[in-house]
Amino acid sequence: MSSIVSVSNLTKVFSTKDGDFEALKGIDLDVEEGDIYGIIGMSGAGKSTLVRCFNFLERPTGGHVVVEGRDLAELSDKELREQRSRIGMIFQNFNLLMQKNVMDNVCFPLTTRGVKKSEARKRAKELLKTVGLEDKAKSYPAQLSGGQKQRVAIARALATNPRILLCDEATSALDPQTTASILELLKRINKEMGITIIVITHQMSVVREICNRVAIIESGRLVENGTVERVFTHPKSRAARKLIIGGVEELDSPDANRIIEELHEEKKIRIVFSENSSYEPVISNMIMTIGSPVNILRADTKSVNGTAKGEMILGLPSSVEAQDRIIDYLKEHNLEVEEVTGDVE
Ligand SMILES: Nc1ncnc2c1ncn2[C@@H]1O[C@H](COP(=O)(O)OP(=O)(O)O)[C@@H](O)[C@H]1O
Ligand SMILES: [Mg+2]
Repeated sequence: MSSIVSVSNLTKVFSTKDGDFEALKGIDLDVEEGDIYGIIGMSGAGKSTLVRCFNFLERPTGGHVVVEGRDLAELSDKELREQRSRIGMIFQNFNLLMQKNVMDNVCFPLTTRGVKKSEARKRAKELLKTVGLEDKAKSYPAQLSGGQKQRVAIARALATNPRILLCDEATSALDPQTTASILELLKRINKEMGITIIVITHQMSVVREICNRVAIIESGRLVENGTVERVFTHPKSRAARKLIIGGVEELDSPDANRIIEELHEEKKIRIVFSENSSYEPVISNMIMTIGSPVNILRADTKSVNGTAKGEMILGLPSSVEAQDRIIDYLKEHNLEVEEVTGDVE
């Protein structure tokens, strides 16, 4: 299969007054046509730098970026401009033109490329319909909600008929309900328009919701990639485990803070497993199925009469409904479950 974006041994060094800083340290990554590809990592990991290299908004220091079969380093300025128009981009803070109304925002990438005004307006009207804002053409960004602003930004990003849409933390400033509706729209754009989507996020929930594949970036390195299902059920790297299983305190997001709050006054359970049952796939499958975080407070294995016996203590989220679902799931998977009272050392 041919990749629509193929990155090999990509490096990026920033020269700063404190010396050189290596933001990307040899990244290899392939995005296939039709993917909704997640790039996840903590703040400062290098995600934005990486996607800015996909359209040469950032020039790599080393390595290759091949988009739709073209090595970007070999393109003339004019060819690069054309190639860029085939990659739309949206951001956390929408980047709309505040002095222009919605219609003119969407027309902007077309009129600046010499498309006739009447033609641009026709295309913009279609796109506003696609994103569900046909009645807002004359509104100004300040009059819109965050979700509506992001819809305008999506319509604008699609104006030039791109084959790829890069979304850099596009839902990070939105509440969960608005996030869900924007993710739904992105899914529809992927399916109905056949646009490949690359989603940068620090939220595992976003990856779980829409991506088919995911790459985990940590300190400028790609530490793990694969199908979302595989990474969730069989995480190989410490970073992936941390992102999936309760390592949320490492993530600096309102979402993570909320989860930490929820886990604070937590209900604890002990699960016991025996010789051949490994708990890890069960726990990560459970998290994926139920979509609720748990906190692993203790895990150890003892040898009892020559056979390995293990126990694990989990902190559960505060929602009683989620607790019940977690306990039912574990019991259904033949683990002994009991409630723990008091502190766990
Ligand atoms: N233009 C720049 N000059 C110097 N350092 C930069 C520049 N852009 C990004 N960096 C640094 O590179 C690292 C990765 O940044 P970024 O790609 O924005 O991370 P992320 O998007 O994962 O939060 C950070 O430590 C950041 O400070
Ligand atoms: Mg970023």
